[in-house]
Amino acid sequence: MPYVVTENCIKCKYTDCVSVCPVDCFYEGENFLVIHPDECIDCGVCEPECPAEAIKPDTEPGLEKWLALNADYAKVWPNITEKKEPPADAKEWDGVADKLQYLSTEPGKDA
Ligand code: SF4
Ligand code: F3S
Repeated sequence: MPYVVTENCIKCKYTDCVSVCPVDCFYEGENFLVIHPDECIDCGVCEPECPAEAIKPDTEPGLEKWLALNADYAKVWPNITEKKEPPADAKEWDGVADKLQYLSTEPGKDA
């Protein structure tokens, strides 16, 4: 019953979530983060930390697609354990609809 990073993280990637996770289970793509569902201990502390409100418990309906996406990319992207500067245009992307089309599958750099 892990927590899941969802669409509004794309191109916002504030990374506040990373600094509070007690088990360091975030993985970094170029413009998105994911939670490793097998490592997340479901503590919930990251959810209120996200300025983009992109983190949800997987008990919320309709998150199957996002849970699968988190699980898939957590296997291939590098672990990220410290907060970093968000993209310069993060605020402009906050709340934009249909951001999945902009998801980069490239791994994050200098995680
Ligand atoms: Fe980490 Fe807890 Fe968030 Fe899971 S719910 S990703 S363990 S901070
Ligand atoms: Fe993304 Fe929110 Fe973390 S925008 S990087 S889930 S703080």
